[in-house]
Amino acid sequence: MNIGTPLSESATRVMLLGAGELGKEVIIALQRLGVEVIAVDRYENAPGHQVAHRAHVIDMTDGAALRALVEEERPHFIVPEIEAIATDMLAQIESDGLATVVPSARATQLTMNREGIRRLAAEELDLPTSSYAFASSLDELRAAIDNGIGYPCFVKPVMSSSGKGQSRLEGPDDVAPAWEFALSGGRVKQLRIIVEGLVDFDYEITLLTVRAKKSNGEMETRFCAPVGHVQQAGDYVESWQPQPMPGSVLVESRRIAARVTEALGGCGLFGVELFIKGEQVLFSEVSPRPHDTGLVTLMTQWQSEFELHARAILGLPVDARLRNAGASAVIYGGMDATSIQYTDIEQALAVPGTDLRLFGKPESFVKRRMGVALARGEDVDEARERARMAASRVKPTQ
Ligand SMILES: Nc1ncnc2c1ncn2[C@@H]1O[C@H](COP(=O)(O)OP(=O)(O)OP(=O)(O)O)[C@@H](O)[C@H]1O
Ligand SMILES: [Mg+2]
Repeated sequence: MNIGTPLSESATRVMLLGAGELGKEVIIALQRLGVEVIAVDRYENAPGHQVAHRAHVIDMTDGAALRALVEEERPHFIVPEIEAIATDMLAQIESDGLATVVPSARATQLTMNREGIRRLAAEELDLPTSSYAFASSLDELRAAIDNGIGYPCFVKPVMSSSGKGQSRLEGPDDVAPAWEFALSGGRVKQLRIIVEGLVDFDYEITLLTVRAKKSNGEMETRFCAPVGHVQQAGDYVESWQPQPMPGSVLVESRRIAARVTEALGGCGLFGVELFIKGEQVLFSEVSPRPHDTGLVTLMTQWQSEFELHARAILGLPVDARLRNAGASAVIYGGMDATSIQYTDIEQALAVPGTDLRLFGKPESFVKRRMGVALARGEDVDEARERARMAASRVKPTQ
């Protein structure tokens, strides 16, 4: 593998589609390796725009606009950071030999739609999941619940992420409001939802799994130590690594992650979301890219999930080992405003073993993730306490 000189004819160029906080860290990792990076998002001054060689604002669901930009910039690699992209055009770009899509165009197509990835995992690969059904109308949803899914259950638009349009239903009265809410949260007008039976899990993990080439060119699959996390309203608020779990459960988790990531193919890091109940492991979903709960790896691994992704993309060998226990805690904007300030940073960083990432988002919302506190510790408990403490001390103000 050769890496050229940025901003010259020999440059190795990577285009990020989506330049939020996760893309920003991937870009920094690529920059350190001397890669020329082009960051694309749908709004100006996105976090990744601020650290890239060039920044563009386009509607990435517009296939023609996407193609025009790729033809203008001629990246060697295209790295999707979000799901809402014209993935059919990515497949076209890949098959025309214009650029390599990371990890593969097929992976982005299958995972942008909950139906694609669930059918692959449960029906083709025969992996254990929650009970589920799909519906395209309120009547179909009612029928699916009555005919087997039961209550409690979850309704999610098939095209949505970060808990948007998602609700938990306790009984028949919740069905119509859940349908309406899904309508408001999906990415497309033509609504289709998945309804899933509740999994009464003991804990849930993200198993960060990286497919990369060894120095001899052979493909290998490596697993990071499991990341435990807490979700509120479909959004992660706290994560830690390593999540303690029995060896047999870890083996089963790795088996599931290996099967799913192999089926998706390509080189890159994946976030495999799993529910654990006793000895049982259920597949939930997978991101073919760094995962938000994996921000903790900036503090815990020799190579963070972002560095692992960057290396895998470039065909370089990876080291997924844990260095020390750690945790992350989300910092929300707490208000709807632009150009906010973060105060009491010194008090936050006075907590031992901590660090901060402030993403630099131009606009804050009450529940928008604006930053994250990171902590290391003797063990996960200490790290979690430190991360929570540091995050709570950061005070966003106008
Ligand atoms: N069937 C289920 N049983 C129990 N809990 C569930 C179920 N489905 C979702 N959840 C809870 O809701 C969270 C978010 O669900 P899911 O990952 O499917 O949505 P998402 O919108 O893709 O979220 P994100 O983009 O943040 O990963 C899960 O991590 C889990 O805590
Ligand atoms: Mg999820």
